[in-house]
Amino acid sequence: MLQTVSTILLFALQVLADPPGGSFTPRIVTKGYGNWSEAYEKARAFVCDLTLTEKVNLTTAHGTGVAVGYSFGVIPRKGFRGLAWDDSPTGVRGSDYSSAGAAGLNLAMSWDRELIYLQMMANGAEHKAKGLNGALAPVVGPLGRAPEGGRNFESYSPDPYLSGIAFGESIAGMQAGGTIAVGKHYILYEQEHFREVRETNDFGYSPFNITEPYTVSCDDRTFHELYLWPWYDAVQKGMAGVMCSYNQVNGTQTCQNDHLMNDILKGELGFQGFITSDDGSQHSGIASALAGMDVTGPGETSPNGIDGLGISFWGPNLTLSVLNGSVPEWRLDDMATRIMAAYYYLGQDHDFPDLNFGGGGTYPTFGFIYPNAKLDYQQINFHVDVRDAHADVIRAVGANSITLLKNVNNTLPLKKPRQIAVVGEDAGPSMYGPNGCADRGCNNGTLAMGWGSGSTNFPYLVDPLAAIQARALRDRTEVQYVLNNFFAKTQIDSIVQQATVSLVFVNADSGEGYIEIDNNFGDRKNLTAWGRGDDLIKEVAANCSNTVVVIHAVGPILMEEWIDHPNVTAALFAGLPGQESGNSLVDVLYGDVTPSGKLPWTVGKTREDYGTDVLYAPNAPVPHINFTEGLFIDYRHFDKAGIEPRFEFGFGLSYTTFEYSDLHIEKLSSPAVATPAASYAPQTTFNPQICPSSKLNPSDYTFPSTISSIPNFIYPYLNANVTYTSNAAAPSSSIAPAPAGPQGGPPELYAPLYSISFSLKNTGEVSGQEVSQLYVNLGNGEPIRQLRGFNKTMLAAGVEKTVTIELRMRDLSIWDVVNQEWVDVTTLGTTVELWVGASSRDLKLKGEIAAAGGYYQAAAAKTATATTLATSTV
Ligand SMILES: *[C@@H]1O[C@H](CO)[C@@H](O)[C@H](O)[C@H]1NC(C)=O
Ligand SMILES: *[C@@H]1O[C@H](CO)[C@@H](O)[C@H](O)[C@H]1NC(C)=O
Ligand SMILES: *[C@@H]1O[C@H](CO)[C@@H](O)[C@H](O)[C@H]1NC(C)=O
Ligand SMILES: *[C@@H]1O[C@H](CO)[C@@H](O)[C@H](O)[C@H]1NC(C)=O
Ligand SMILES: *[C@@H]1O[C@H](CO)[C@@H](O)[C@H](O)[C@H]1NC(C)=O
Ligand SMILES: *[C@@H]1O[C@H](CO)[C@@H](O)[C@H](O)[C@H]1NC(C)=O
Ligand SMILES: *[C@@H]1O[C@H](CO)[C@@H](O)[C@H](O)[C@H]1NC(C)=O
Ligand SMILES: *[C@@H]1O[C@H](CO)[C@@H](O)[C@H](O)[C@H]1NC(C)=O
Ligand SMILES: *[C@@H]1O[C@H](CO)[C@@H](O)[C@H](O)[C@H]1NC(C)=O
Ligand SMILES: *[C@@H]1O[C@H](CO)[C@@H](O)[C@H](O)[C@H]1NC(C)=O
Repeated sequence: MLQTVSTILLFALQVLADPPGGSFTPRIVTKGYGNWSEAYEKARAFVCDLTLTEKVNLTTAHGTGVAVGYSFGVIPRKGFRGLAWDDSPTGVRGSDYSSAGAAGLNLAMSWDRELIYLQMMANGAEHKAKGLNGALAPVVGPLGRAPEGGRNFESYSPDPYLSGIAFGESIAGMQAGGTIAVGKHYILYEQEHFREVRETNDFGYSPFNITEPYTVSCDDRTFHELYLWPWYDAVQKGMAGVMCSYNQVNGTQTCQNDHLMNDILKGELGFQGFITSDDGSQHSGIASALAGMDVTGPGETSPNGIDGLGISFWGPNLTLSVLNGSVPEWRLDDMATRIMAAYYYLGQDHDFPDLNFGGGGTYPTFGFIYPNAKLDYQQINFHVDVRDAHADVIRAVGANSITLLKNVNNTLPLKKPRQIAVVGEDAGPSMYGPNGCADRGCNNGTLAMGWGSGSTNFPYLVDPLAAIQARALRDRTEVQYVLNNFFAKTQIDSIVQQATVSLVFVNADSGEGYIEIDNNFGDRKNLTAWGRGDDLIKEVAANCSNTVVVIHAVGPILMEEWIDHPNVTAALFAGLPGQESGNSLVDVLYGDVTPSGKLPWTVGKTREDYGTDVLYAPNAPVPHINFTEGLFIDYRHFDKAGIEPRFEFGFGLSYTTFEYSDLHIEKLSSPAVATPAASYAPQTTFNPQICPSSKLNPSDYTFPSTISSIPNFIYPYLNANVTYTSNAAAPSSSIAPAPAGPQGGPPELYAPLYSISFSLKNTGEVSGQEVSQLYVNLGNGEPIRQLRGFNKTMLAAGVEKTVTIELRMRDLSIWDVVNQEWVDVTTLGTTVELWVGASSRDLKLKGEIAAAGGYYQAAAAKTATATTLATSTV
């Protein structure tokens, strides 16, 4: 019996609609989420009733406490318990009885909007059920400029369109789960090396100590068309929080970059929520407030970021800055309003659970409420099980993201093999357990998650060997294994020579810059498999004519040493699947799920083929990284430079075959001209006179006699009397509030202009899903091909369906740096070529959209043509 993903999903959806724990909200219900004006009205009413120090409390984490610093805005007078948040994109970081989901990488490999939404809805629901108002997730920066980038796996794909869809669905899902999605990291944060002074100098991996985090140069067009692109999707989907990143851009820290935060994010994109710093990414008090940062992480006061010492760039410093006029009071009102608007937007003023665990890795039952002060020892973890039926969604993501790279003569699916040999450390459990190293900071046993703050604790980890054994026993298959990559040649040779099929497992890990493994300082130092992986595969292949390679990795690995070996009959890329790893793999190995993943990046033949890399040695005390390649990263570069990849972007095989035919291009409306953002009436809610100016007495901001001060706690109060002078005066640095445009930019950008339809037929023997991909050539110096649409379609064997993909104005637009707006290229006289295919190089159908006439003229209806290409190879 073929169990399709739809069955699993249906099951999952039924469970979701009627959850045992009651924490799931079905997709259509968006109560308390989706109306910013209402949220702003409530926020304004709340904030205008606050005193100066109460508002400051909202903006500044108190630096110690139950959620280890991630606690804001305790306002006793209003009975407001404050807000708490925690990482991560894979689950609730540092908790127990919560799920460990697949990485963002796998969400991208699935190309499945519904699964992305569902896993992230589960993630949001779990954060909420633990009592967390926000989750520091999902991640779209790094985008993945260099394949070595340590945190690429937390994010989706170097293709901005795929990333935008995945990021948008993730945001919508998490917020439907009830928690504020804090999208991160904003922006141009593409490597771990030199992101922080303290970290870099402590590790000492540079020849000399750096003085500031690296700075990135990136031209405006590249910035808009690649790195900023997915943020449009997120804002349009209602993202309520953003985290600014560690790096500098054009010599200014992102967290005090007026252009990036005020003008672009809050202005051009119409972002309505708040911007928070990362741990140590705030580098100033006044400048960050004026540039648009709204919330600060725990206790940061030096460029090196020092946590837990009870000092802060904000807190009392912000109180003082408002009192002496350095930061206008409206800016503080705006900060507080944005934070509270996010809270109301998510409907958190009703029935929100209390924080019921310690957060930040403290999952023992008892602990200090104020850990830095070692005060108030009590029960801090109530071990609430928040997992619901999320395991089903995670298993479905794992199975439907696995990407089949090679499958000679239908080696897979397995058909009751007589004997299986399982080889490689990556196939089995770690002897230290799945959570044996803090923040997954070691690579032992099977790899199902990268390291750093994008990790979470595994409630269990189904390793491949366990799942294969359980499945194989049903067929009376004999299962032998060797889990040692280094010293077991004799044992390996002996089992693989006997086996009907040998499954050899290899991996490659990476993570966040504060952890180093085997000289990988977050970023990968090479693109090969770890731990003698290549040699292991070659050893098995030399002795077994039916060798299947399974790869768990954070990104592409080089496969040239073995991929063409005649005894390597199949290869699967499984990414980082999370807790259900082995089950997801078995679903595909045995054909219960037909593989349908496609690569979200290119697998090159050499490292140099990519044309981009991490900067590993500082080129100055403030390392400078210039994105000179512009738009040409990943497949855009391979295509332009004429480099043959091993496996191209979008590639992935199936157990069945598909036929594409009959392309139709239908014009839906006239190509539009982007209306400049400035011509829209500001939609926000922002108003410099948010609240009437506070009347302040020293008693409103000096330390109250009624509170006994907890050591290392960040209070909003001043210890000395300060004369309140110039607050009402205009600030000397004439900062103006950004005129916020519509949410997600001009609405025309999202208007569908063309409907592209074609026939897709399953011509094989089993049902399966195909990801059909739409590529365009926009001329004007743009890449030869870029993805601008995709559809994942389930088809039973023999069935044919019409698939439709819409092209929106954004999809046909380039960024005009002179006029600072998006322009549909057909209005520039460009004829757009388009292709539909099974990958970026397996193009099946070709069409074109004719130029629409002169620049800035609303176009008359124009012709569109379509042809079928000679069928190319699969
Ligand atoms: C600020 O928060 C702290 C706890 O985090 C609380 O003790 C204090 O009363 C709050 N201050 C105001 C003015 O609400
Ligand atoms: C770099 O800084 C670290 C401490 O942060 C110090 O131990 C080391 O000596 C410094 N190295 C150089 C080359 O200055
Ligand atoms: C960096 O500065 C250059 C030169 O002023 C400008 O063209 C570019 O848009 C800036 N990049 C970003 C990302 O702000
Ligand atoms: C205020 O900020 C400065 C850094 O600008 C820091 O040295 C100082 O400790 C902060 N004060 C408090 C009370 O946190
Ligand atoms: C695949 O099967 C065909 C027909 O049985 C055979 O000729 C061919 O050698 C096989 N290829 C491999 C790589 O095993
Ligand atoms: C565990 O993994 C680390 C690398 O992450 C390696 O150095 C160490 O040898 C491994 N330990 C064992 C017992 O395999
Ligand atoms: C690449 O790095 C990994 C992890 O540090 C290491 O195990 C492997 O041996 C390296 N590959 C090569 C070819 O040196
Ligand atoms: C393929 O495997 C067989 C053992 O089944 C072995 O004899 C042969 O040498 C292998 N081929 C290669 C190219 O290693
Ligand atoms: C970055 O590289 C571009 C293209 O080579 C160059 O025009 C620009 O001046 C460089 N920017 C910096 C800040 O060096
Ligand atoms: C603040 O001023 C009042 C009145 O001038 C004085 O009594 C009090 O001691 C001052 N407090 C501090 C902390 O300087």
